[in-house]
Amino acid sequence: MQGRPTELPAWRSLRDHQRTVAGMHLRELFAADPGRFDRFSVQGAGLFLDFSKHRIVDETLGLLTALAGQAGLDARRQAMFSGDPINVTESRAVLHTALRNRSSGPVLVDGVDVMPAIRRVLGQMRAFSEAIRSGRSVGHGGQPIRDVVNLGIGGSDLGPLMACEALEPYAGAGLRVHFVSNVDGAHLGRLLKRLDPASTLFIVASKTFTTQETLANAHSARTWLVSGLGSESAVAKHFAALSTNLQGTAAFGIPDDRVFAFWDWVGGRYSLWSAIGLSIALYVGMDNFDAMLDGGCAMDQHFRGAPPEQNLPVIMGLLGVWYRDFWGAASHAILPYDQSLHRFAAHLQQLDMESNGKRTDLQGRDIDYPTGPVIWGEPGTNGQHAFFQHLHQGTDWTPCDFILPLRSHYPLGDHHRMLMANCFAQSQALMQGRTAEEARAEMRAQGRDAAATERLVPHKVFPGNRPSSTLLLPQLTPYTLGALIALYEHKVFVQGTIWNVNSFDQWGVELGKVLAGRILQDFGNGVPASGHDASTAGLIRRALGGAGS
Ligand code: F6P
Repeated sequence: MQGRPTELPAWRSLRDHQRTVAGMHLRELFAADPGRFDRFSVQGAGLFLDFSKHRIVDETLGLLTALAGQAGLDARRQAMFSGDPINVTESRAVLHTALRNRSSGPVLVDGVDVMPAIRRVLGQMRAFSEAIRSGRSVGHGGQPIRDVVNLGIGGSDLGPLMACEALEPYAGAGLRVHFVSNVDGAHLGRLLKRLDPASTLFIVASKTFTTQETLANAHSARTWLVSGLGSESAVAKHFAALSTNLQGTAAFGIPDDRVFAFWDWVGGRYSLWSAIGLSIALYVGMDNFDAMLDGGCAMDQHFRGAPPEQNLPVIMGLLGVWYRDFWGAASHAILPYDQSLHRFAAHLQQLDMESNGKRTDLQGRDIDYPTGPVIWGEPGTNGQHAFFQHLHQGTDWTPCDFILPLRSHYPLGDHHRMLMANCFAQSQALMQGRTAEEARAEMRAQGRDAAATERLVPHKVFPGNRPSSTLLLPQLTPYTLGALIALYEHKVFVQGTIWNVNSFDQWGVELGKVLAGRILQDFGNGVPASGHDASTAGLIRRALGGAGS
């Protein structure tokens, strides 16, 4: 798309159409249309999406899908899957989908089929994870590995951490997996207190192998290991690396047969499907990792094949654009009703905000329309007792995604029914709200006196008309988790296409890294360099002088 999305005919029509829909209330739309749920729900790759509780009518969906067509979604999707260098600011292809491609066909980058290399690394991951899990591969002193520590940050941490937490029911009893990301020494230090170097494996996960936090943690872990085991040669048995930078891994001293490669066409936030997923394979076994790839692949096929009005990522992406650009919604809540998905919103935060938190379009022009929203969330039911008050009665409203597996891995008493009831009740309450009349009637039925009732009525009114999607999974399995992650990846892609941004670079993280390097030098020199602003120089001086100065 060379022009701006705001100039597309469908964008202009949506602006007018929004004014019509603004006068409607979801409660009335449901009352008037018994077929609404059936018409506004779809299935794909084993997931079910109810999007009937959105501020839309049939015409809205038609205009939104027209917008996708006019923005060139088909061509851009085809370009991504074909390995075209759509990450134009880094001149790279975007092929995380090749990592989960289960067909026998080739995927070409610059005329070279990348599938043989992908299959080779998957084979290497299988061999390594099976050797460690079975106890065939042991530590320096001959002890089996009991603890695996993934040292990485951002996409080299959040995705695998989220997936390991989600798939805990599939883990055997043998291995514990830990994730250390923060450069704050407390993160690594607190863990090391509990570990035995003789039975610990460190995985240094870094696409670039230059990330300050990860390398600092890797060097400190190495020092701890060597001092605990009394030999430099122990490093070869207790470290592995996941990276595209094979020179960097060699310089660190990790033997080549313990380095798991991937490629520059895998973005960090899309890398859990690559060797970066080794911690997942170690924790739940390679067969389950493969099942996760299968789920991701099924969602890819759905995204490529389903018509727009039945396409889960397309619909979710378009609804996000609808609220962000035509209603002014600044944030979007992710509410998994599954404790095992407690890091899912954190993973999506990076996926979505690093991809579409952009203010420059693909042609390098300033953008004058809202792009990626703030993504946040926590599992239900906990969130209900924390921030749901704001969702129901705050002056801003936030579109929500409720995510619910229908079967639990922990069928304790009536817990799962309670969980499901709460999930459905919350989206119902957001949608229908409570009128003054209903609040009054309820209080009267409870026997409250008339004066107290009238005083409380305004506080007990819920405006309703607050939109949400509900995503149902049969159960949280490696397969459905793979489909769920891929669904959100493609949702982000759809939105990036409409907003005409490069969803695959992240220049916005650079400046802070450069400035941190300079300030670190100041700490070494014992004095702030000239050129800092007064605030930063003052803060550096206070840090140099200790907390009390
Ligand atoms: O700082 C942002 C970032 O580059 C992310 O995009 C990436 O996931 C993370 O840092 C970690 O990078 P690496 O895997 O190269 O250590």
